[in-house]
Parts: sequence; structure tokens; C-alpha cells
Amino acid sequence: MAEQVNGVVAGAKGARVSVETITIPDPGPGEAVVRVQACGVCHTDLHYREGGIGDDFPFLLGHEAAGVVESVGDGVTDVAPGDFVVLNWRAVCGNCRACLRGRPWYCFATHNAQQKMTLADGTVLSPALGIGAFTEKTLVAAGQCTKVDPRIKPEVAGLLGCGVMAGLGAALNTGGVSRGDSVAVIGCGGVGDGAVLGASLAGARKIIAVDIDDRKLAWARDFGATDVINSREADPVEGIRDLTEGNGADVVIEAIGRPETYQQAFYARDLAGTVVLVGVPTPDMRLDLPLLDVFGRGGSLKSSWYGDCLPSRDFPMLVDLHLQGRLPLEKFVSETIALDQVEGAFAKMERGEVLRSVVLL
Ligand code: APR
Ligand code: ZN
Ligand code: ZN
Repeated sequence: MAEQVNGVVAGAKGARVSVETITIPDPGPGEAVVRVQACGVCHTDLHYREGGIGDDFPFLLGHEAAGVVESVGDGVTDVAPGDFVVLNWRAVCGNCRACLRGRPWYCFATHNAQQKMTLADGTVLSPALGIGAFTEKTLVAAGQCTKVDPRIKPEVAGLLGCGVMAGLGAALNTGGVSRGDSVAVIGCGGVGDGAVLGASLAGARKIIAVDIDDRKLAWARDFGATDVINSREADPVEGIRDLTEGNGADVVIEAIGRPETYQQAFYARDLAGTVVLVGVPTPDMRLDLPLLDVFGRGGSLKSSWYGDCLPSRDFPMLVDLHLQGRLPLEKFVSETIALDQVEGAFAKMERGEVLRSVVLL
């Protein structure tokens, strides 16, 4: 039986979001209905509202979520009603070229539920990142549900669904940070702090956080940064070299997505070091580097999609580490809010006052 619930909808480009009644159909084959318990507010939700991701308004916002599976459609075997799950926007197909080459984190297929959630008048909603979770219930593809230990708080678990996972994975999966490494992280929002925490978990010996905002640098220290550089006040490339005996860091993670900070990352790494770009650039951005430096400095220049994560492998493992007290994910939750406070959370996010506001349902 289709159900009516409340959800946060972006109705038109640039317009304030509003709480609307939405209709959730029964799950079809391969789909699941999830009762959402918590959903973080991410920059991407704001980009949807501003028309930066597409014109398919109205959007049902929210995508960093955790909740309990309520019902499943035909053929669903991996999850069952009652399972506590974290939602992911990269359900892996198992059959495409990337999956078959053993690199499922680059899966080409998008396995989202069909767009069937609607406003009360029947207008079809476009769910953000194929999820749409600022709502009491949502319809997703069953592969977007990753079962984890239910003892974790939902507002903490949901963070693994997006930015925090991107940062953790940039350090752990893409950067391959290991014991004793020196690591620099440029840009310390939720993604950058995830990278700081990932580097700390991996046993990095030196973790240098770079940002232009002292508040962010203080938070980065709390996640494990051993040194901080305010790049408004000091040259970050020189600063990182000074802190690494003149060599540069083994791994430099760029968590902003801008040419000038990418260039800093490029020159702040040690010879044969690794640069990881996890910040997402815009289409107009260009990079100008001497090709001889690209050649001469060796090493690897990598990018990290969603932290190159594999939800079924990474989410349960990270939840377990958190429950053992080894991964303080709760520090990312700056505040918990109600469904009708998303607009206020966007403003706080833009002013840099929060790492994550999380809607509790
Ligand atoms: N130099 C250093 N730090 C900077 C600079 C700069 N030139 N410009 C911005 N910053 C800092 C900000 O002060 C902020 O702390 O970068 C941080 C960016 O953090 P957020 O805006 O909170 O963004 P976040 O959610 O962490 O995402 C970072 O990753 O997933 C992508 O789309 C996302 O591109 C974005 C990036
Ligand atoms: Zn997000
Ligand atoms: Zn695939």
C-alpha cells in the first residue's frame, strides 16, 4: 500500500526548500522502502536546490542517511525488513566492465530505484543522488542499502553515505596511507577531516592540515592533525616542506577541488609521492603545470570517487571500528535538527559554522 509521509522538497531553482507531503509506493522488484532515521545535510543538497546539478525539479533532497528496511520487493535477498542500513549512492552491479575487472568502486551502472515517489498531486520527484532521504520513508534500490551493526547511532552511521566516507576513503583506499607516512590535507571541511581521521587510523606519523579558517584547523587537530597551516597567513607548500625535513609529504590530499590548491598539493608532496584529488572541481576549471615537473617528480596523481569506497566492504568495517572506540565519527555531527530546519542548516553550512547538521526523524 502506497503511503504518505513528509519530505523536504526543492521545488524550483534557488527557491527555499519546503516540507511537503509525498507518496511512497510499494517497493517493486529489486527495491526496498526504508524508514529513514537520520540524514545529514551536504553541499550537494544545496547544489540541487540552486540548479547546479540539473533542472529536473522538484527534487526530493537528502542522501547521507541511515534507517531501517521496512519492506522489500521481489527478488531482494541481501536485505530484509528490520535490517539497519546505511544508504549509498553507488550500488555496485557486479556485471559491468569495472566490476568484472575487480574494481567495483568504479562501477558504471547506476542502480537506483525507478523514480516513483511523487508529490500529493502526482508530480514525480527526482531523488537527490538517487536516494532522497530528508523524508520519513524513501524508496531505493536494494543494492543501495548496506547492512551494518545496529548499535551505532543513526546520525553517525548516515555520515558514511557521503562526504565523510569520501575523505576516509581518499586516505585509506585511494591514497593508501600506511604506518609512518607523512600526510597533508588541504581543505578541512567534512571531507578533509574525514581524510585526516583516515590518515590517523592508518597510523600516519605526521598529519598536516591546511585551511584558511582557524576554526577548521582547530577541528582538524581534534581529528588527529599533528600540525596545522593557515594558508592565508603562510605558504602551505613551504610550510609542508618545512615540517617534513624539506622533502614534502608522502601523500597530499586535496579536499576542495580548485586548481590553485591542487597545484599546492602537487608541489607539497615528496618525490615519488602521491596526490589524491577528492574535492570536486567545476567544469570551467583548468590546470597549468610544467609537464617536466609532472615527469620529473614521479609518483602518482590520483583522483578519488566517493573515496573509492565499496559500501559492502567499507561501511560495516568502519561501523565496527567506531563501535570499538577507534573511529570517533560522532565528532562530525555538529548538531541534530528537525525536518523543517534544513534551510537554516544550509545557511550555517555556507558560513562554515558546522561540519554536519543531521536531520533526525
Ligand atoms: N585554501 C585552503 N582551504 C580552503 C581554500 C583555500 N584556497 N578554500 C576553501 N578552503 C577550505 C574551507 O575553509 C573549508 O574548510 O576548504 C574547506 C572546504 O570544506 P567544505 O566547504 O565544508 O566542503 P566539504 O564538504 O568538505 O567538501 C569538499 O569535496 O566532495 C567534495 O563537493 C565537495 O568539492 C567539495 C569538497
Ligand atoms: Zn553528500
Ligand atoms: Zn558494475
